[in-house]
Amino acid sequence: MMLVVESLSAHYGLFGAVRDVSFEVQEGDFFGILGSNGAGKTTILRAIAGLHPPAVTGSITFRGKDLLKAPPHARAALGIGLVPEGRRMFSSLSVRESLLLGAYRRGKAWQVRNLDRVLATFPELAERLEQATGSLSGGQQQMVAFGRALMCEPSLLLLDEPSLGLAPVVVQRIFALLKELHASTGLTMILVEQNAVEAFPLLTRGAVIERGRIALDGTRAELEASPVVAQAYLGADGA
Ligand SMILES: Nc1ncnc2c1ncn2[C@@H]1O[C@H](COP(=O)(O)OP(=O)(O)OP(=O)(O)O)[C@@H](O)[C@H]1O
Ligand SMILES: [Mg+2]
Repeated sequence: MMLVVESLSAHYGLFGAVRDVSFEVQEGDFFGILGSNGAGKTTILRAIAGLHPPAVTGSITFRGKDLLKAPPHARAALGIGLVPEGRRMFSSLSVRESLLLGAYRRGKAWQVRNLDRVLATFPELAERLEQATGSLSGGQQQMVAFGRALMCEPSLLLLDEPSLGLAPVVVQRIFALLKELHASTGLTMILVEQNAVEAFPLLTRGAVIERGRIALDGTRAELEASPVVAQAYLGADGA
């Protein structure tokens, strides 16, 4: 197992946003965390990336290392990358500057190597390197957010609702890019989404989270076979 989350609970002050959540992610998985607004999806990713708040109890083990003892920059150095909700861009920075931010702790050679790699993955960005990030389309800004996270050569990429605020045709492109990235590199990913219909075909395994708890987890086929998922997340008519 690459990532083992055991009895994870997460609090904002007295409020328990995530309660007793356990799941495991294997090397090479494209793991989905599905759930509606406020279910606790972002909270789980923040706990894995080491961001505060929330305050966290339980255990998170990454390749045998106890993550809860490690600060966020140490988790990044171990190979955990986060593409945050809402993309979090500095819109006045150029695309080049935004991408380099993802590897600001690294040396020049590392930055050059990874900038080349990211631009090969997202050729649309190569044509716009000196453009202000804020002047890009929503889909291109999402590519910058992916690229920025890939700059630190993650072995586990956490993606928080990359489809948020994008037009349906752009969402399809973004998911196609993620599918291609997974197929070509085998990068392990955890994708948090409300947009289950689009996300589902990408996934190898996943979990459904409801009001801070795991309602269901398993392989894609197991999730798809569940009436709960079919009705609440995949829009089946219950027939
Ligand atoms: N900084 C915070 N302070 C207090 N409560 C918070 C904070 N962040 C989140 N919460 C609460 O924790 C719960 C889980 O929030 P979280 O952001 O993890 O949900 P989510 O599943 O990511 O939802 P969405 O799909 O809307 O992004 C919600 O009830 C939310 O109001
Ligand atoms: Mg969220």
